[in-house]
Amino acid sequence: MRKIVITSGKGGVGKTTVTASLGRRLADMGFKVVLADADVGLNNLDVVTGVESRVVYDIGDVIAGKCTVFQALVPDHESGARILPSAGGGIEMSAQAFRGVMDSVTDCDFLLIDCPAGIENGFHRAVSAATEAVVVTTPSASAIRDADRVLTLLSAYRLEDVSLVVNRVRPDMVARGEMMEAADIARLLGTPAIGVIPEDDCVTLYQQLGRVPSFALSERAFELLADNVACRTKKCAELRAGRRRRRRWL
Ligand SMILES: Nc1ncnc2c1ncn2[C@@H]1O[C@H](COP(=O)(O)OP(=O)(O)OP(=O)(O)O)[C@@H](O)[C@H]1O
Ligand SMILES: [Mg+2]
Repeated sequence: MRKIVITSGKGGVGKTTVTASLGRRLADMGFKVVLADADVGLNNLDVVTGVESRVVYDIGDVIAGKCTVFQALVPDHESGARILPSAGGGIEMSAQAFRGVMDSVTDCDFLLIDCPAGIENGFHRAVSAATEAVVVTTPSASAIRDADRVLTLLSAYRLEDVSLVVNRVRPDMVARGEMMEAADIARLLGTPAIGVIPEDDCVTLYQQLGRVPSFALSERAFELLADNVACRTKKCAELRAGRRRRRRWL
């Protein structure tokens, strides 16, 4: 089983979005997938995957011995991925206890761990339970700088692989030279990019409806990301601005 933590330096860059979308696509490809929320207190993976109303137990209950990890898993009916919700808050969860729960997840090909923002306890808890990491950043200077800090921290962990996802890319701005290309960000951070996700209103819509529609701009980008993860490849497909329709003057 591959245990991949989805992390970032800066908050709000798309960790939960990437965890949910990547997990669903891997499940669509036929893999057995569990998505675990490591964000105690500000957990929202259950909301983003649309399973919130069916949550009975959470990781806190598993640690307290109230249920098994399998009783806490909530299936996403559309893709077959299963979500392990985090505790809503007010509980202490050590890295060791969290790792114990992650290690008890069996019968799955991919365990994706949605890391909380920041580099405090939650970060250590999530990363120490994983064997691989995906760092999400946006093309903004502050997000890139924070990603750099996190990559330095990650080097202290024994991870088999660390790669990058550049989220919220505006190909039109890249084309005008107003936004950095994903390949340049990857070079700057010394980490290969395995996903380049465009800014897409459908992503926000999906968080309310539970699924990105197939016509969404980001759909193909998430597919390529899932392919890279499944095949352990590092193909970085730069997004290109759509060709403008040539105006015909009559
Ligand atoms: N590619 C995208 N296009 C448009 N909106 C996006 C995209 N990716 C993420 N968003 C939006 O950005 C917001 C933050 O995303 P998300 O919750 O996934 O970030 P996060 O890194 O998990 O945040 P936190 O650090 O608080 O856990 C959400 O409202 C989401 O809909
Ligand atoms: Mg999040």
